[in-house]
Amino acid sequence: MSSEIQEKAGSHLANLVAQQLQRVEKMKQAEDWTDYSELAPIIIGVCWGDGIGPIISQETQRVLEVLVGDQVEAGKIEFRTIEGLTIENRAEHMKAIPDDVLAELKACHVILKAPTTTPEKGGPYPNIESANVAMRRELDLFANVRPVKVAAEGIDWMFFRENTEGAYILGSQGIQVTDDLAIDFKVITRQGAERIIKMAFEYARSSGKNEVTVVTKANVVKTTDGLFLEVAEQVAAEYPEVKWEGWYIDIMTAKLVDPKRRTQFKVLVLPNLYGDILTDEAAEFQGGVGTAGSANIGKRYAMFEAIHGSAPRMLAEGRGQYADPSSLIRAAGMMLAHLGFGEQSRKLEMALDICSLYEKKFILTGRDTGCTGREFCDYLLETIDDPALEQRWQAAAE
Ligand code: IPM
Ligand code: MG
Repeated sequence: MSSEIQEKAGSHLANLVAQQLQRVEKMKQAEDWTDYSELAPIIIGVCWGDGIGPIISQETQRVLEVLVGDQVEAGKIEFRTIEGLTIENRAEHMKAIPDDVLAELKACHVILKAPTTTPEKGGPYPNIESANVAMRRELDLFANVRPVKVAAEGIDWMFFRENTEGAYILGSQGIQVTDDLAIDFKVITRQGAERIIKMAFEYARSSGKNEVTVVTKANVVKTTDGLFLEVAEQVAAEYPEVKWEGWYIDIMTAKLVDPKRRTQFKVLVLPNLYGDILTDEAAEFQGGVGTAGSANIGKRYAMFEAIHGSAPRMLAEGRGQYADPSSLIRAAGMMLAHLGFGEQSRKLEMALDICSLYEKKFILTGRDTGCTGREFCDYLLETIDDPALEQRWQAAAE
């Protein structure tokens, strides 16, 4: 009996190894970056998501209409609604992303995605894989780029979270060996680590920040985190002008709450799960996960999303209209920058900084003690329209 159990577990592991070796081979094939300037139209697939998703999407759409409505009319941009990425449809097909929906996603160039519900064991939906995780894997969106900024406190962090490996990639393929024994797997590949670490170093160099912090737990998780750190050392050698340091995730998490130390960090690169956790903590200093955007970048595709979840509790308690749309709007701004609409993106970023971080005339609290997402968005649109936007932003940032 016990040898049968071991054999089954062994063959499961052998399959995973084969699958991952194939992935490595695929990563070795050089692929070109999509050049958006050559596309007409650039097709933006919009997924409205679950829970508060459709509510904050509506506000985001209003902002995009103002900023790039002319581009739509000129045929440079096409927005395409993708209906099927709802938890109901995914549960019905028992798939993180149903096949026809995946085909629709792949027919777009970039995706703007509102939060989708991630089922959990014992929850109301079948425990299928997260749509985020599946989309990041299927579209090979290896870099999760998350900026956090609190000017008044000298915080200006850019996180490069690895997005297609780590504890996530086999997160739905662990084995319950017996009732008593459960095993999960964590994966790091040389190619996967190299591409995200290079991106962080490139950014550090081109932004003039010239400093990278590599976060792992390589002293304990020796094999996978060990490889990540080893690759960092090799990449760093190609960027002599960029200073770098390795930090462990536990002390990093602690130092992020230390006002004297945290301003020293500029560009951080880290494996998937550490990046997931640390970016939520970081966003909290800026005003919470409702305020931070997230770009998921791959060579061929890119996807932009809010960093928070679908908040089913807010909806169940009838508080959906009080949800903060600024995380998704910020993601939309990152999308515009990625597509080459730098001026529109900058305008939006300044207006968002004013409305959600500096001036804060309308404050969202997530309930009726604050304003609604609609009211906030009206304030944001007025601010975008202000001819003195730049001066107002500069004055507010001081
Ligand atoms: C995020 C989210 C997702 C993640 C969830 C919803 C699967 O927390 O984008 O950080 O863990 O990556
Ligand atoms: Mg997260």
